[in-house]
Amino acid sequence: MEELDIPTVTLNTGHAMPRVGLGTWPLVGRQSTDSILTAVSAGYRLIDTAAAYGNEDSVGAAVRESGLPREELFVTTKLRGRHQGDAATVRQGLMESLEVLGLDYVDLYLIHWPNPARGRYVETYEALLELAQHGLIRSVGVSNFTEEHLRKVVDATGVPPAVDQRQVSPSHAQAAFVDALSASPTIIQAWSPLERNSGVLQDPVVTHIAERLDVSPSQVVIRWLIERGLTTVPHSSNPERQRRNADVFHFSLEPDDIAAITALDSGKSTELTPDTFEEF
Ligand SMILES: NC(=O)c1ccc[n+]([C@@H]2O[C@H](COP(=O)([O-])OP(=O)(O)OC[C@H]3O[C@@H](n4cnc5c(N)ncnc54)[C@H](OP(=O)(O)O)[C@@H]3O)[C@@H](O)[C@H]2O)c1
Repeated sequence: MEELDIPTVTLNTGHAMPRVGLGTWPLVGRQSTDSILTAVSAGYRLIDTAAAYGNEDSVGAAVRESGLPREELFVTTKLRGRHQGDAATVRQGLMESLEVLGLDYVDLYLIHWPNPARGRYVETYEALLELAQHGLIRSVGVSNFTEEHLRKVVDATGVPPAVDQRQVSPSHAQAAFVDALSASPTIIQAWSPLERNSGVLQDPVVTHIAERLDVSPSQVVIRWLIERGLTTVPHSSNPERQRRNADVFHFSLEPDDIAAITALDSGKSTELTPDTFEEF
């Protein structure tokens, strides 16, 4: 089958990032490597991992086994809470990830959670910008940062994060946040875009649009993110679903479709709230 050609967005660092990538949580070991390899053969080039997932080794193995030149793949990993702090602590977190990955650099390195109660994320971000100067990181970003967290790192450094990876899906449409960032260079990357298949893919609003357009409900949800200017990293270990999730660039939604899906927002915050959740 023909490889998908997944379009990219240019980050504020000048590097190109695929608009759809593969999430790897919660797979580990050989199962993780094998599922990344099927995704790469379908056309995926972005692989999203984190030190906290315990699967960076499986991502590094997939990069080597893919047979692709390193520069054709885009690897994202994330700094754990315990490695936030001064430059030496942050560097240690990055070096541990690079060693487990078996890579010389990562394309995108995110602060996994702001952990605001500990108040170290600004100095952590400053340390990451410094490490990027040494070529160990191509682009520095953040994850689970609210507008306030973003403002603080930009006020301190003048450098907007390349990416903010946030929970965005129909039940958590994040309309205010998406609007607030629409003029910012920081690209939003949605995690759990399919809500872990816990119901949104069966919602009649989504299934009716999918039937009309002759695509699957997951394609409708991912296309809804893309049309709002977001990027995303859906996870699937199933080759057919992997392909479908990234095959969203041959159709478009009507403005009414976008509004109807956005209106599915439950208005409820999840237990994983950036202001209070602590990740170690
Ligand atoms: N930054 C953060 O704090 C953070 C937090 C959570 C996740 N993430 C990242 O975001 C990625 C994606 O989020 P997620 O894994 O939580 O949720 P998700 O991508 O919304 O959903 C993944 C689940 O949905 C199923 N699925 C995938 N495609 C499907 C389809 N077309 N039809 C039906 N079911 C489908 C998968 O099962 P099958 O494998 O059986 O297809 C899997 O169980 C993660 O893997 C991780 O890399 C980041």
